[in-house]
Amino acid sequence: MPAIVLIGAQWGDEGKGKVTDLLGAWVDYVVRYSGGNNAGHTVVTPDGQKYALHLMPSGVLSPNAVTVLGNGVVIDPKVLLGEMDGLTERGVDVSRLLISGDAHLIMPHHRALDRVVERYLGPARIGTTGRGIGPAYGDKVARTGIRVQDLLDPGILRQKLELVLREKNQILAKVYNRKAIDVAAVVEEYLTYAARLRPHIADTRAVLWDALAAGATVLMEGAQATMLDLDHGTYPFVTSSNPTAAGACVGTGIPPTAIGQVIGVAKAYTTRVGAGPFPTELSDQAGMHLLKVGDEYGTTTGRERRCGWFDAVVGRYAVRVNGITDLVITKLDVLSGLDQVQICVGYEIDGERVDSMPTTQTGFHHAKPIYEELDGWWEDITKARTEEDLPATARRYLERIEQLCGARISVVGVGPGREANITRHPLLPAAAADPG
Ligand code: IMP
Repeated sequence: MPAIVLIGAQWGDEGKGKVTDLLGAWVDYVVRYSGGNNAGHTVVTPDGQKYALHLMPSGVLSPNAVTVLGNGVVIDPKVLLGEMDGLTERGVDVSRLLISGDAHLIMPHHRALDRVVERYLGPARIGTTGRGIGPAYGDKVARTGIRVQDLLDPGILRQKLELVLREKNQILAKVYNRKAIDVAAVVEEYLTYAARLRPHIADTRAVLWDALAAGATVLMEGAQATMLDLDHGTYPFVTSSNPTAAGACVGTGIPPTAIGQVIGVAKAYTTRVGAGPFPTELSDQAGMHLLKVGDEYGTTTGRERRCGWFDAVVGRYAVRVNGITDLVITKLDVLSGLDQVQICVGYEIDGERVDSMPTTQTGFHHAKPIYEELDGWWEDITKARTEEDLPATARRYLERIEQLCGARISVVGVGPGREANITRHPLLPAAAADPG
């Protein structure tokens, strides 16, 4: 089987965890390739148990999948071990987790700088999750990062930390008036993590190459989403990694030619957390409906998500930049109870109509949505399991999204339960052969 990439097609929180869970039984490896514990996947298992995962690939809840944290991930070891302990206490086997020695570590100075820089930025802040993600990737690019493999050599760990803290402590103390970080205390703390993580550290590239060569199914699970991509998103209001499909190759070592399918997940409307432009954002009754009915509160920070109509300009862009082969539209049920629903089909920017992603940040800030209005529906659709079970207006809504985005919609989520889906085209051939 070629590798499969699963990505978010909007600004995150599209329900990627649910799709991984859906594929769980047919997938042998679930690999995270970017981001860190800024992510939040909520997965509800068959026995109704709810898990909020941040760093662990959501495949950990599938009975047989090997889970992998690839080289492109940034790892806060304390958070990872806390998550592993929490899962173990609930009877989940975490022994099959593999961690790339080349993944970078989130260190205490990254967390401290993330928070203090955001405060310093004031109204210009990005609204980060405060987990140290940006500063960790910053050190990676500056070649002063500390990697998982450095945990295995206490001398090197100390040496690298001394070097980087020589500069960072000056910044913390002299620019931001914060306490300097003590090298010895951090080395001591991180060596306790090292002892526990050692059995999981592996040459994950080679493991994945061998797995693909042996015909295994490898799912590369994106965190964050297209519009939060450092290069292709709404810079600077983005995360510091590449969640788009191409990032999966860089973040795992799996070559582009090994990828056979890209599944893009989008909500039936749009949400965003943090700052930055969001043309279809609503501040009216409809927005309140999406927030309340959609229960749009962040898994990681608990923040209220900003809500708005489906933006097909973003959808089309995501299809093109990721090469999406299958769209999964989640939370269609949240739109029940609205007389009319709107789809953004283009923008008006300073008096001109634009049908594709604006080429400048200013253009995107000025973009006013041009809507196509469709009739809504009032029926409860959470029990719908085939397209025919949906009201005609809901079917029309999906058809229009499909036409405007330019990729087929394969699965539609109609409720939080793992069975609450309509499958129009099976995501995997194996799943088609054995729908139960
Ligand atoms: P950072 O990734 O913590 O640096 O945050 C950068 C931006 O990405 C902020 O706007 C965050 O709210 C957003 N962000 C990061 N992770 C997620 C996620 O998993 N879902 C949605 N937004 C996210």
